[in-house]
Amino acid sequence: MKLRRRDPLVCQWTGAGFLIGMPGRNSSLKVSPGILRILEAAGDPVDPEELATAVDPDGSGKIRPVVDQLVRHGILVSDVDAETGGPALWEHWGAVTERFHLSARDANYLVDSPERAEVAAAIIAGGAAPPIFKEYPDRPVVMLPRRPLPLRASVEDVFAARRTHREFTGDPVSVDQLSTVLFHTFAPQRFLDGALFGVQQGRVSASAGGRHEVECYLVAYDVEGVAPGLYHYSANRHALELLDPDVTRDRVAELSYDQEPSYQGAFTIFTTAVAHRLAYKYRHPRAYRLWMYDAGHYGQTFALTCTALGLGPFQTVAFTDTEVERLLGVDPDEEFAVYLFSAGVPAGENPLQPKGFSTPAPSLVR
Ligand SMILES: Cc1cc2nc3c(=O)[nH]c(=O)nc-3n(C[C@H](O)[C@H](O)[C@H](O)COP(=O)(O)O)c2cc1C
Repeated sequence: MKLRRRDPLVCQWTGAGFLIGMPGRNSSLKVSPGILRILEAAGDPVDPEELATAVDPDGSGKIRPVVDQLVRHGILVSDVDAETGGPALWEHWGAVTERFHLSARDANYLVDSPERAEVAAAIIAGGAAPPIFKEYPDRPVVMLPRRPLPLRASVEDVFAARRTHREFTGDPVSVDQLSTVLFHTFAPQRFLDGALFGVQQGRVSASAGGRHEVECYLVAYDVEGVAPGLYHYSANRHALELLDPDVTRDRVAELSYDQEPSYQGAFTIFTTAVAHRLAYKYRHPRAYRLWMYDAGHYGQTFALTCTALGLGPFQTVAFTDTEVERLLGVDPDEEFAVYLFSAGVPAGENPLQPKGFSTPAPSLVR
């Protein structure tokens, strides 16, 4: 059997030294110059004895146990295993994603642990929490109607009718409809005492630690009572803060791969995550997953509210993050693009079936 270096290996050079991520495990191996020489010599399949000799021609006998250890860690693999490759998933998604996946696993949430209070106190002592609301106080605002429209459809009817819509009539949406969608999707409905972490908001959507790091930016095209343009939605003021009156459907089309439902409704919403609002409380790699769960909850609340109002919702992540962040004028190290929602008056007669879909022919369901 010949050995070769596992391909790929993900390495980091940190204050702790040069580290190789252990394949399949959430831990790293510190790389000594000797290990580095072994790995350099094992780029192509090589007999284990020849490998030891290549690295240590004087034959001190110290190399072979290290080679065996690297085999046990899966850092050196047999050429047969190398041919077979690792799990296909990581070939599709990439070695860095695998590393991230592993590093985000098994985070200690300190539930019922005496350390929990200590960690929380250290966070608070380390500096004030970021604001729970983002606002643009110097921009012109559109104050939205304060009374949401009644949502009288039964929960079952809304559940049954929630579909992704891709075709819209082109009719405008009223400011009351928009305001109702924004209120239920993004505004706080109650405030709670979050103890050390201050005031916590209760919104329709759950959010990890009540951090509500999701922000909403709206591009209005066809909303009665709201001039077209790009706005930030102030969840605090229930108002739209005008960022750029010149943003049009064409601009949104460019950064959403021209996927029509992203920009052909009456409005488009870009959501972002304000990273520090979340990272202030959650300081481990698993927190990188939290904004995805949170954005998903917001997406479902958006879709259900639109449905209850008779609007057709759409959602996608098919957009160029960098371009969206540039459009919104946010610093991508602080706040990044997350999820695109849009809505309009749905085309088609059947409220239970979006236009363009028909009932499938009889077939075996697999
Ligand atoms: C995260 C996410 C991304 C999506 N991206 C797209 C998309 O780019 N284009 C599209 O037509 N539909 C997209 N959809 C809609 C799905 O295709 C749709 O939810 C699925 O086909 C089920 O249909 P339904 O939502 O009507 O139940 C996306 C849905 C989710 C949850």
